[in-house]
Amino acid sequence: MNLASFSAGSCLNFTPNIWPSSFIRKEPNYKICCLLKRVNSDPTSEPNSQFRAPNSLEPIEPCLCGRRHLIRAASVAASRFPIRPSNATNSPSDYEVVVEKFHPPRADWYEELYASVLNSAMKSYEAEVARYKSQVFSDLRGNAQKVLEIGIGTGPNLKYYANDSDTQVIGIDPNAKMEKYALKSAESAGLPLSNFKFIHAVGEVIPLQDASVDAVVGTLVLCSVKDIEMTLKEMKRVLRPGGLYAFVEHVAAKDGTLLRFVQRVLDPLQQILSDGCHLCRQTGKSISSAGFSSVELNTASLSTAAFVNPHVYGIARK
Ligand SMILES: C[S@@+](CC[C@H](N)C(=O)[O-])C[C@H]1O[C@@H](n2cnc3c(N)ncnc32)[C@H](O)[C@@H]1O
Repeated sequence: MNLASFSAGSCLNFTPNIWPSSFIRKEPNYKICCLLKRVNSDPTSEPNSQFRAPNSLEPIEPCLCGRRHLIRAASVAASRFPIRPSNATNSPSDYEVVVEKFHPPRADWYEELYASVLNSAMKSYEAEVARYKSQVFSDLRGNAQKVLEIGIGTGPNLKYYANDSDTQVIGIDPNAKMEKYALKSAESAGLPLSNFKFIHAVGEVIPLQDASVDAVVGTLVLCSVKDIEMTLKEMKRVLRPGGLYAFVEHVAAKDGTLLRFVQRVLDPLQQILSDGCHLCRQTGKSISSAGFSSVELNTASLSTAAFVNPHVYGIARK
């Protein structure tokens, strides 16, 4: 697929042009979602015509910022349905409400500091974890053109996609300060910026269509999400049948070990210092019982990760 088609037509299927059906079901008060659903199901609509700007043949810019997308979608919806303007203008913040529900706003300086520390302090960890990541990412090669990365952070994984010029990556993260680092990582990895989008979003409610991606990637993120089961369910929803979930996660040490005791003691402090990261989650078990058709899960211990060990890494298939 060429870049032009990614950034225009096909990208619209990959971008948040409708909201997750689970979100529409669970949050019926978010009127704009219902409107989007209604626009999408309008039998008189041409394919994708709902995402054209009014009076224009131009598809709505495939901006992956849910907010801007909603503003434009709201204006299209408003032109078709007799809603009062006040409804339309309130609605664009609906997804921001969702983000805040699962990732309550932190002080600006805290988000910036966390992003900057993550960007500079993970070099030796990344060097050590590279042998495991290489294994996991090699399974994606050739099988994943559309990749969604959950909690992309500063983008340390972008270099693993850069060799494949057809790969299109969407990275979601609730910390908007990560975006500039992720863009820099993409650039220095040689991943064309037209093949990469950052969305301010959470894993618990992913603003993408059902079955719209070939692979979901998550590294060191299920420790930080608010609701791990909901996030795994959303990952499965956006994966196409047979799609792959590639993961590298740190998990709780074995019960009864000294390491587990240390983790229990440090867990509250870790959550404060590392933006909600939990040391004692049994993430491997959560992945294994999330309903994937197969899960290949390995464990490793990394010397650069100290008490943030052991790790599980592998591939699950929808
Ligand atoms: C430890 S960092 C890991 C970042 C990156 N994946 C890596 O491997 O370096 C955890 C990331 O998860 C993000 N995060 C926290 N809560 C999240 C949520 N509910 N949904 C998606 N990402 C979340 C954080 O903003 C942060 O960027």
